[in-house]
Amino acid sequence: MSYCTNLDSHPPSSPCCSSKLPSMAPLFFLLLFGQILLCTAVDTINSTTPLTGTQKIVSPGNKFILGFYSPTQSNTASSGSGNYYIAIWYSNIPIQTTVWTATTNVPVSDPTTASFEIATDGNLVLLDQAKNQQLWSTNVSVAPNSTMAIIRDSGSLDLIDASNSSIIYWRSLDHPTNTWLPGGKLMLNKTTGVTQRLFPWKNNADPSPGLFSLQLDPNGTAQYFIQWNKSINYWTSGTWNGVIFSLVPEMTAGYNYDFQFVSNATENYFTYTMKDNSILSRLIMDVNGQIKQWTWVTSTQQWILFWSQPKTQCEVYAVCGVYGSCNANTLPFCNCIKGYSQKVQSDWDLQDFSGGCKRNVPLQCQTNSSSRQAKPDKFYTMAGVRLPDNAQSAAGTSSRECEVACLSNCLCNAYTYNSSGCFVWPADLVNLQEEYRGNGVGTLFLRLAASELPDPKKSKTAIIGGVIGGVAAVLIILAIVLFFLFQKRRRDRTLRVSKTAGGALIAFRYSDLQHVTNNFAEKLGGGAFGSVFKGKLPDSTAIAVKRLDGFHQGEKQFRAEVSTIGTTQHVNLVRLLGFCSEGSRKLLVYEFMPKGSLEVQLFPGETTTLSWAIRYQIALGTARGLNYLHEKCRDCIIHCDVKPDNILLDESFVPKVSDFGLAKLLGRDFSRVLTTMRGTRGYLAPEWISGVPITAKADVFSYGMMLLEIISGRRNADHGDDAFFPTLAASILHEGDVQTLLDPRLKGDADHDELTRACKVACWCIQDDESTRPTTGQIAQILEGLLDVNMPPVPRSLAVLGESPNAINFFSDLSSSQTTQTQNSTTSSQTHSATSGSSQP
Ligand SMILES: *[C@@H]1O[C@H](CO)[C@@H](O)[C@H](O)[C@H]1NC(C)=O
Ligand SMILES: *[C@@H]1O[C@H](CO)[C@@H](O)[C@H](O)[C@H]1NC(C)=O
Ligand SMILES: *[C@@H]1O[C@H](CO)[C@@H](O)[C@H](O)[C@H]1NC(C)=O
Ligand SMILES: *[C@@H]1O[C@H](CO)[C@@H](O)[C@H](O)[C@H]1NC(C)=O
Ligand SMILES: *[C@@H]1O[C@H](CO)[C@@H](O)[C@H](O)[C@H]1NC(C)=O
Ligand SMILES: *[C@@H]1O[C@H](CO)[C@@H](O)[C@H](O)[C@H]1NC(C)=O
Ligand SMILES: *[C@@H]1O[C@H](CO)[C@@H](O)[C@H](O)[C@H]1NC(C)=O
Ligand SMILES: *[C@@H]1O[C@H](CO)[C@@H](O)[C@H](O)[C@H]1NC(C)=O
Ligand SMILES: *[C@@H]1O[C@H](CO)[C@@H](O)[C@H](O)[C@H]1NC(C)=O
Ligand SMILES: *[C@@H]1O[C@H](CO)[C@@H](O)[C@H](O)[C@H]1NC(C)=O
Repeated sequence: MSYCTNLDSHPPSSPCCSSKLPSMAPLFFLLLFGQILLCTAVDTINSTTPLTGTQKIVSPGNKFILGFYSPTQSNTASSGSGNYYIAIWYSNIPIQTTVWTATTNVPVSDPTTASFEIATDGNLVLLDQAKNQQLWSTNVSVAPNSTMAIIRDSGSLDLIDASNSSIIYWRSLDHPTNTWLPGGKLMLNKTTGVTQRLFPWKNNADPSPGLFSLQLDPNGTAQYFIQWNKSINYWTSGTWNGVIFSLVPEMTAGYNYDFQFVSNATENYFTYTMKDNSILSRLIMDVNGQIKQWTWVTSTQQWILFWSQPKTQCEVYAVCGVYGSCNANTLPFCNCIKGYSQKVQSDWDLQDFSGGCKRNVPLQCQTNSSSRQAKPDKFYTMAGVRLPDNAQSAAGTSSRECEVACLSNCLCNAYTYNSSGCFVWPADLVNLQEEYRGNGVGTLFLRLAASELPDPKKSKTAIIGGVIGGVAAVLIILAIVLFFLFQKRRRDRTLRVSKTAGGALIAFRYSDLQHVTNNFAEKLGGGAFGSVFKGKLPDSTAIAVKRLDGFHQGEKQFRAEVSTIGTTQHVNLVRLLGFCSEGSRKLLVYEFMPKGSLEVQLFPGETTTLSWAIRYQIALGTARGLNYLHEKCRDCIIHCDVKPDNILLDESFVPKVSDFGLAKLLGRDFSRVLTTMRGTRGYLAPEWISGVPITAKADVFSYGMMLLEIISGRRNADHGDDAFFPTLAASILHEGDVQTLLDPRLKGDADHDELTRACKVACWCIQDDESTRPTTGQIAQILEGLLDVNMPPVPRSLAVLGESPNAINFFSDLSSSQTTQTQNSTTSSQTHSATSGSSQP
């Protein structure tokens, strides 16, 4: 703890928190200035005080502002012809974040000629005087000349009775647009059968409703659906079981929230509120069809995402539109498939991919002239994809016959041939996913015009056989000779570099890395921060080259961080061998790990290569590696992203922690990416959400979650049925039956003492209060058997406090021993620190 707690006051050594805004001062001024102006601001609009131009109303506690708002189009070159919308946004955070907009078909182009006012019919309306048009209305029946509007600290704009503010006719909170705030309802009106829907913005610059929507089941069951185009369901919450939605077990960890589901004769709705009102939290329907819960983290001045559904972006129906393909491992995750390009480029630029792609060159049968396009269409092979929807079975008993079947139908866009036979796609291709491993994986043969797939051999002959054939041949021979000479020199140089460098880091040239990776041919993995490729140095050393995408830090900082990472060496850390920095091209070169990641070794398959002894060795080695990062090296390094993907295994399954130091290297991008990519969130400590400074104990939490997965052999979230595994593990531990937690593939073949120790350590690691989590040094000692460990309490955030019948049973069974254990926990952690000699406060 000692070295790491003061991170926040010492930005250079604070990897996780380095995103602290350097430009805070000017922003702070702006806020102050804003507040002074707003002192005279009011929170109401009445019949004599319309809102126009730059005027705003502010909630009494200065939490929310309502006014005209123009979405920033920062990431586009498209003409930013100012479009204005009436919107509500948070007043005291530096990132302007809207929570509600008055959805209009036509935006306002000049707010000074528009007004948001109480009309004589009593409704709140948006008028465009220039066009003499009513653009929006609350549209409720009220008595004329009797109402006014007020903005509340809850973020709601209410239409109320002018003489009695407790009579509310309309609340924006119950008519959400893309944001579901605490206290809001998303209801089913049983009288009318109408549901309230949460729609995403169409794109990042246009608040009008997009294709996706979240709504309660109109048939009256207690579950929410996310739909595409108001018709196709691609996600369901499962039904409300009195405590949580059955398919959202993560809700049991939502200890900052109160949940409620109301169902009676007139309405059904779910609502959530914050236990602590000072925490800002919002659920949004994202432009790309995921619902996301964001929380404001004061210490880093950022929104942090800690929950989203569907879990991965590519599960969203038709998210990349027709002829688009989704790849969960790249950013952006949508691309057009080969031979196709974006239908509307400007939409894609604004992150709206739903428009999809169009064919570049028509097929042979689609063109009229037979002389021009004489060549028959060809097929492009896409292996390892999720096959698109709407396949049609066709005649054909071999791949060749299937190809002919496809060619004979002008509408056929693609075919596949698998053990169930021949299938063709006469309709548009939707829901294609690349680098896919789940159900419905296959190889797609995509039909393209011949010109899209030029035959390299033929084109070469054509040139040689041409008029200048002779000359060309000479030139080519010359070029080949030069090329080989150049290659040889280059190889020599690389060799020299790697030999002279010794223990220090090698500064590679980009061209050298291109060469040793065979132009980035063999991809080992992709991730949020860039892709990793296999390479081989001239002396046959295998390497892994990580190409960092979207790197925005300066050159000096890059070199400083890289040199820190390079000097951080330990048997349980992946070693950095070198780097490349040429302009925006930043690459890191690591030693190659033949057995891949723990993720790859642990989860898949019916059988497992990882025996209990190996698993224990991995757990212990990882703890030692992390301990080195936390305590033994000169600057404390918090990893921030401990998960099975980042634990690599060498030939004999010795674990090596990878990607350490990237948090600091990538700064603000890191935590953005960290919290938005799949696979990471299950490991994040609660303090990422609650906003307290991140310490090394955040890594301990992630380690604990990972250790539970090492024990069970399954992802914590994947245990299906009803229980969230960590919760289950903590309670089973108390019942003493640890063998039931063990990976069934091991068939009980594990040392009972080791298993118990590992389970106890894991449960201590995932405690909410970071001071009760052990240090990585203590973890290593416990696993080594040098320290004894007490029974851990059930983590508060993971238990359903008092609400779940199971939890009630559990607590009442153990209520007497519970208190003693909690007391013991304090004592035990003190004992630990005394024994291990580490400094605990
Ligand atoms: C409207 O509000 C303003 C300022 O809040 C106040 O001065 C005025 O009397 C109000 N008008 C009516 C009709 O309530
Ligand atoms: C307003 O309400 C009327 C009837 O109550 C309805 O016909 C009309 O479509 C509504 N307009 C909007 C914009 O909702
Ligand atoms: C409402 O107020 C307007 C102007 O203040 C007035 O012209 C109108 O007659 C009033 N309507 C009713 C129903 O009182
Ligand atoms: C305001 O309305 C509420 C609810 O209709 C009522 O209980 C209360 O007596 C009213 N207050 C006044 C001052 O009229
Ligand atoms: C349901 O809709 C009807 C008609 O619009 C309305 O009168 C009623 O108040 C609504 N019910 C609820 C619970 O909002
Ligand atoms: C509602 O019920 C009808 C009839 O049982 C069914 O066809 C429809 O799919 C259901 N809708 C949803 C959203 O489940
Ligand atoms: C959405 O559905 C409507 C019919 O309900 C259809 O007209 C429209 O084309 C669909 N949109 C897309 C993008 O397919
Ligand atoms: C249904 O529940 C809502 C909210 O609790 C309440 O306002 C309403 O009166 C209830 N309706 C019936 C018929 O019980
Ligand atoms: C083919 O010819 C028809 C009629 O001559 C014409 O309408 C069509 O646009 C042509 N199609 C192409 C792709 O040239
Ligand atoms: C073969 O491909 C079709 C079309 O996508 C699919 O429906 C079917 O399940 C596949 N069969 C096997 C055995 O993968």
